[in-house]
Amino acid sequence: MILSPQNQLLERSMDLFANGEWLFVNPSDAYFLDELKSKSIDVMHQFFDIFSESVRVVPSISYDSRDIADKGFISEQKVGSHTHYFAPFLTTQNQYTDVMIYLPKAKSHFQMLLRMAAGTLKENGRIHVVGENKGGIKSAAKLMQHLGPTQKIDSARHCSLLTTQLSGEHLAFNPDDWTETLTYEVEDTSWPVVSIPGVFSHGELDAGTKLLLEKHTSNLTGKVMDFACGAGVIGSYLMTRYPHLKLALLDVSALAIYTSAMTLKANNLNAQLIAANGLHGVETKVNHIVTNPPFHTGIKTDYTITKRFIEDARRLLHSNGSLQMVANRFLPYPGLLSEHFSKVLTTAQTTQFSLYHTSF
Ligand SMILES: C[S@@+](CC[C@H](N)C(=O)[O-])C[C@H]1O[C@@H](n2cnc3c(N)ncnc32)[C@H](O)[C@@H]1O
Repeated sequence: MILSPQNQLLERSMDLFANGEWLFVNPSDAYFLDELKSKSIDVMHQFFDIFSESVRVVPSISYDSRDIADKGFISEQKVGSHTHYFAPFLTTQNQYTDVMIYLPKAKSHFQMLLRMAAGTLKENGRIHVVGENKGGIKSAAKLMQHLGPTQKIDSARHCSLLTTQLSGEHLAFNPDDWTETLTYEVEDTSWPVVSIPGVFSHGELDAGTKLLLEKHTSNLTGKVMDFACGAGVIGSYLMTRYPHLKLALLDVSALAIYTSAMTLKANNLNAQLIAANGLHGVETKVNHIVTNPPFHTGIKTDYTITKRFIEDARRLLHSNGSLQMVANRFLPYPGLLSEHFSKVLTTAQTTQFSLYHTSF
């Protein structure tokens, strides 16, 4: 198994892990920790793909949005001497001497993780951050310096490892401090949406999502899936407009699932929430799927995930169902969609996005 570049860098510093009580946050692959099998370690995952690969038994998890909005959630699985948590926030009482954070994409997400990590540390604890140089490790170092003296420990594989020795007192982490409620308006509907750092399009309505909501085909019935739901913008809008619908909202991100639950609560709505990697391990049949799906942002465009999603969407849809999807208009989705659906229509377009409506 090939380790991620971040973990190839950590492999060069195995002595670092010899002592202390360690928490890993969002490891970038499921294999590096096998090299620390004999050590008792806690691992917090905000992403379901690496969580499910790490625990190797859980293909997807279904939640009720009311339960999450009231109590949050934390799914725990033991693998040997490691305890893996799938959760938006770390709410156990455990305290650590060392926390290893894998640098996330968004700066605001990183700031939140730093505060969360600081809240779990024992006195004189250390926070380590590993990340790709092009992923903003330099600006990460600046943010870490606010917490205490920060050093670069190693760098290779286009990644760096930084360590901060915490100084001073750190307040307990409170998710409410990071949560904001915004009011979005589309056509003649206005509704509240909850936003948290690390969730797609934090604090603003995405232009692609807006096009989908304005121009979607409205003859929806039965059960609808908001695939890749983010903050639950699409699902909450559809339930507000069409109260007869039942919704399932799915995302790989625990923060997205938590935020969707909070958005539904703010609208007095209730729905099924599913944590999954794509539609892998999902069996719920639905009448319609409405989505602004994840897109690949790397240098090389890879359509494997999209192709698999389209194949799986066909499997989950009832035969009279439909898939409505908004995407960057320059991506070759019409071709991919017509491999699995006989009718593929472009129902709206802007300079940037196309909206597709497909059926059998
Ligand atoms: C383009 S955003 C759309 C979010 C939301 N529907 C909206 O319109 O604001 C795509 C979402 O896909 C999620 N995602 C990324 N990879 C995924 C995967 N493998 N399985 C499920 N969801 C995924 C991301 O967490 C993100 O919330």
